[in-house]
Amino acid sequence: MSDSVKPADVGLIGLAVMGKNLALNIADHGFNIAVFNRTTAVMQEFIRENSSTPGQLTGCETLPLFLATLKKPRVIIILVKAGPAIDTVVSQLLAAGLEKDDLVIDAGNSLWTDTIRREKQYSTQLKFFGSGVSGGELGARFGPSLMPGGDPAAWKHLEPIWRAIAAKVDPKTGQPIPGAAPGKPVTGGVPCTAYLGPDGAGHYVKMVHNGIEYVDMQLISEAYYLLKHLLKLNPAELGDIFAQWNQGDLDSYLIEITADILRQRDPVKPRKFLVDMVLDAAGQKGTGKWTAGSALDMGVPANSIAEAVFARCMSALKEERVSAARQLKGSKPARVSGKTSIIEAVRQALYCSKICAYAQGFQLMRQAQEEYHWTFDFGTIASIWRGGCIIRARFLQKITQAYSRNPALTNLMLDPYFKKALAKGQRQWRQVASLAIQQGIAAPAFLSALAYYDGYRAAVSPANLIQAQRDYFGAHTYERLDAARGEFFHLDWPHPQRPQHQTTGA
Ligand code: 6PG
Repeated sequence: MSDSVKPADVGLIGLAVMGKNLALNIADHGFNIAVFNRTTAVMQEFIRENSSTPGQLTGCETLPLFLATLKKPRVIIILVKAGPAIDTVVSQLLAAGLEKDDLVIDAGNSLWTDTIRREKQYSTQLKFFGSGVSGGELGARFGPSLMPGGDPAAWKHLEPIWRAIAAKVDPKTGQPIPGAAPGKPVTGGVPCTAYLGPDGAGHYVKMVHNGIEYVDMQLISEAYYLLKHLLKLNPAELGDIFAQWNQGDLDSYLIEITADILRQRDPVKPRKFLVDMVLDAAGQKGTGKWTAGSALDMGVPANSIAEAVFARCMSALKEERVSAARQLKGSKPARVSGKTSIIEAVRQALYCSKICAYAQGFQLMRQAQEEYHWTFDFGTIASIWRGGCIIRARFLQKITQAYSRNPALTNLMLDPYFKKALAKGQRQWRQVASLAIQQGIAAPAFLSALAYYDGYRAAVSPANLIQAQRDYFGAHTYERLDAARGEFFHLDWPHPQRPQHQTTGA
């Protein structure tokens, strides 16, 4: 290290878009940061382009130099592609002289079980952290939501940096504090980060955030599509509706960008709207699928999250759908009237369905904490999603309040505020679901959310028949309404090939 270079407070490896933006955010907050990138030219260009930040940016050409530049215990953020690259970087850091009190923070979208494995595997060599980072490029640059999990004692070394660079919300309203700009970070406010638990806790919470993000996006797309077809509106008109919705309960980042997107003209064919020129086949990187998979593994009914993933899978079958559209009949589109009331009904349907999506996400985390021995504070989780992240919304203040009223809330839908909102919106929600069905328009997120609501509030379900069927063909036994839970029965069901039958306890 030359004499003019001050020891760095923090290091960052991986200068793709997210890494660069996070590094600049850290530097804007006055931290000295050392950066390393596998391709040295990328690092050199980054340093050249960003010479005037309040904190000092130091580019390092080798890992030994990078480690020598950092204060101890070293705090090193890695932002490389999730998967084997994380282990490769950790091995290289160990080979370069990383020490056991040093922190390595994997800030990518890693699978939480990989983070659990890594924390254990490296526990004698370093302190491994997994931190969810949400908010895309702009969030990374001006204030993301940060969801860390790892060694509780080591958190004190990461905490000042994470709290400084996270998005900030107003302590009274819970609304994000806007206005961050290069070199001018937001000061004051409550930071959107909190320690969430050991090993994979942070990455698990980030994954559930993404599962909810999938449903939010699917619901918005269904609302757009229903309004477009039912009311024959053009994208700009639809954009105006979303902008209007953004003034009320639905106020959120995703609704806001939807309004912008719908009003955007196509730069190639300016007479058209861009949204009409975008191919209707959604991509996905896997976090939604992981969330749905985790729900299936643990037996949690997160059906809207799974439906949102399947809806993307269905959309990806573009060529098959085009062919099937010519062969499979739907219902004849009927005329609908009452533009204002349909728009309001879709808004209510969207809000009620959104409550169900979050209820599923929180139900999933409740189960996961049992499974992985974490202790989540759900109010805190909701509060750190109020700003910075993709699902940030006014609504998250209501969730924060719901869990502060009752930290042991079994299901979000049972909180008085949400109970009332569901009761208020359900008639219009059902009306929208019926319209979608009658008109032959697929609305899997709206319908699955309604099924979740109706399923959860059903004191009696048809599963008695499933149990009887299972016992009939496989002697899988059943419990009885007039016996204690856990006492199982079997009937030798009358059948021509099974002449004798009797009821037995099993
Ligand atoms: C975020 C986003 C981010 C990323 C998604 C995209 O919170 O900032 O969720 O992590 O944009 O992973 O995921 P898909 O490509 O699967 O839509």
